[in-house]
Parts: sequence; C-alpha cells; structure tokens
Amino acid sequence: LFPAADVDLKEHIRGIPDFPKPGILFYDISTLLRNGPAWKAAMARLAEKVRPYNPTLLAGIESRGFLLAAPLALELGLGFVMLRKPRKLPGATIGYDYELEYGSDRLEIQADAVTPGDRVVVLDDLLATGGTMAASIALLRKAGAAVPAAAAMVELTFLDGRRRLDVPVETLVAYD
Ligand code: PRP
Ligand code: MG
Repeated sequence: LFPAADVDLKEHIRGIPDFPKPGILFYDISTLLRNGPAWKAAMARLAEKVRPYNPTLLAGIESRGFLLAAPLALELGLGFVMLRKPRKLPGATIGYDYELEYGSDRLEIQADAVTPGDRVVVLDDLLATGGTMAASIALLRKAGAAVPAAAAMVELTFLDGRRRLDVPVETLVAYD
C-alpha cells in the first residue's frame, strides 16, 4: 500500500508565522497531506517505526492525529480507535482531564474500545509540549491498555515533549 519513496518530508511542511498567536511558528502538515507521494512516503516511514512495537491497535488523537493513525492502521492490518475531544463519542466513555498553560482540557475514549492485553500505539501529527500525548497515554492506560510507544510525524525538540512521556517516542521530522 505504501512503497517507500525518496521524499524530503521537510520540503512539504511549511512554517506559518504568528499562528495561532503572535510569536508562534505553526508547522502546517496540510501541504504534505495534499501531496500524494509525500503523504505516502511519510506513512511508509511511520509504518517502519511503529511495526516493531507489535501493537494490537492504533489510537489517533483528534483531530489531526486521525489523519495518520487511520491510514497507518490500514497499512499495518490493525484496528483504529479514536481519542476524542469531550462529548463527541456515543455510549459509555472514559475521560482524562489535563492541565494546559491556561485552563484545562479533556480527552475521551469509548469504554469498550480497548481491552486488557491490548498494546496500543498512539499517533498524533505533532509533538510540542507533549501535554496532549501524555494525556492520551494516561487515558489509554486508564481504559486498560498497555502503551508500548507513541509516534508523531513532527517533533518540536526545543519544547522537549519527550521529557513528559514514559514510553519510547518515534517521530519523522524534528525542528529546533
Ligand atoms: C495540536 C497538535 C497536537 C497538539 C500538540 O493539536 O495536533 O495534537 O496540538 O501540542 P502539545 O504537545 O503541546 O500538547 P490542536 O490542539 O491544535 O488540535 P487539532 O489536532 O484538532 O488541530
Ligand atoms: Mg492535535
């Protein structure tokens, strides 16, 4: 499905200054996603990095994490589960609240989405402070799964998000 290709992923990711706030350089993956060969190459490389952890399921973090986790699950022949913003999922859910710089946020998973024995690798587009990923790992554990690794396409190394995570972190592109 995803043959490797000789693509420089950074050529397909653009930095947009002062978004969402003045002084923030936003790394936008939209330009990568709309280029078929680049998206394919990124997914092939993520597959190589994630496969060795032998996951039984992949989880994606709403919303941009879905764009990686769902196609990667297809590539690896695995199921995909959603970690969603509050009040989006029907039926019984399990939630995890976490602190932001200003205020707090929450992620939810369907209560029956994972079962003990599942090894869930969690995917997001970008690792910044690591707060979102740390909360996702905590939520998956609360729901009963083991989390052997986390993965993201882009990592902002100057924010050292890895420091907040107690699992191996696989990323494709780093900015410092
Ligand atoms: C962005 C990005 C990651 C998160 C990274 O999501 O997609 O999920 O922030 O930041 P952190 O490492 O500091 O937690 P955003 O909240 O902008 O929402 P979106 O994915 O729905 O666009
Ligand atoms: Mg996000």
